[in-house]
Parts: sequence; structure tokens; C-alpha cells
Amino acid sequence: MKINFSINNSAKSIEINPSETLYEVLNKCGFSSVKKACGTSSCGICTVLLDGKPIPSCSYLAAKVDQHNITTIEGVQQEAELLGDLMNREGAVQCGFCTPGFLLTIIAMKKELVNPDIQQIKNYLVGNLCRCTGYEGQLRAIRRYMEVGR
Ligand code: FES
Ligand code: FES
Repeated sequence: MKINFSINNSAKSIEINPSETLYEVLNKCGFSSVKKACGTSSCGICTVLLDGKPIPSCSYLAAKVDQHNITTIEGVQQEAELLGDLMNREGAVQCGFCTPGFLLTIIAMKKELVNPDIQQIKNYLVGNLCRCTGYEGQLRAIRRYMEVGR
């Protein structure tokens, strides 16, 4: 089957197998920033944005993105650099495997929530796991990032 969607604001038309996941299709298209770990919607490593909202691409059928907009970290380079710099300053990145999905979720949260408190931030990020850092540095970086431009 053929699907038409937008990826990082570029129109794409591609033949897929109806059972393929979005992760598999993005991987075939060369979007290597999108990683996969659990494959069961549990860790958030494979997060991309669907019409601006985070989804686990490992468990989302590619057929469902027809006529929708997908964003990977390549599509939010400026925001990702700003946030990544804050994360580095707070010692919030170690192996980096979770980072693209984490950054995309945080960028979506900033657009969606106005002045979230710490519990709202934790709730929004509940689907993104990090095995390395203990989250405290990430929370410090996120609080600083949420202040930028406000
Ligand atoms: S790899 Fe998709 S949620 Fe873990
Ligand atoms: S920095 Fe290693 S999994 Fe998050």
C-alpha cells in the first residue's frame, strides 16, 4: 500500500507493507536518529512526534500516518541544540541512547503545557525511560529550558 505523509516538513510518498511499524519505515528511509529498544511501547526510545504529539514509533503502524505530519529530531534542530546544551551543562546525558526521544518529548511538552509544575513534567515524561542518569540532571535542564523565551 502507498502512504503520503510529511516528515520534517517534507512531503513523502512511499510504498509500505501494511504490517510495518513506523519505526521500520523511518529506519528504511534513513532516519537513523530514531532508535529502538523494547519494541513494546514501554521505554520511549523510539519516540517521534505525530502532529506534534509524542508517540512510540516501534508500536505504531506506519499505515496510520497517512496524511499526517511526523517529526524526528532532525526536524527540530535549533530547539534540540538549545535543549541538548542545557542537558549537557546539567550532566544529564551519558550514553545518549534515550536522548533523541527524550528531547522530542520535552519539546512537545513545552508547546503543550504552560508553566507546568514538577509533577506535571514528570507525568508528561512518564513514557521516556533513561537507564543511565537518575533523572535529576534532566529535570534541572528541563526547568531551565521551560524558562527560555517565557
Ligand atoms: S522501543 Fe519503542 S517504546 Fe521502547
Ligand atoms: S543517557 Fe543512557 S539511556 Fe539515557
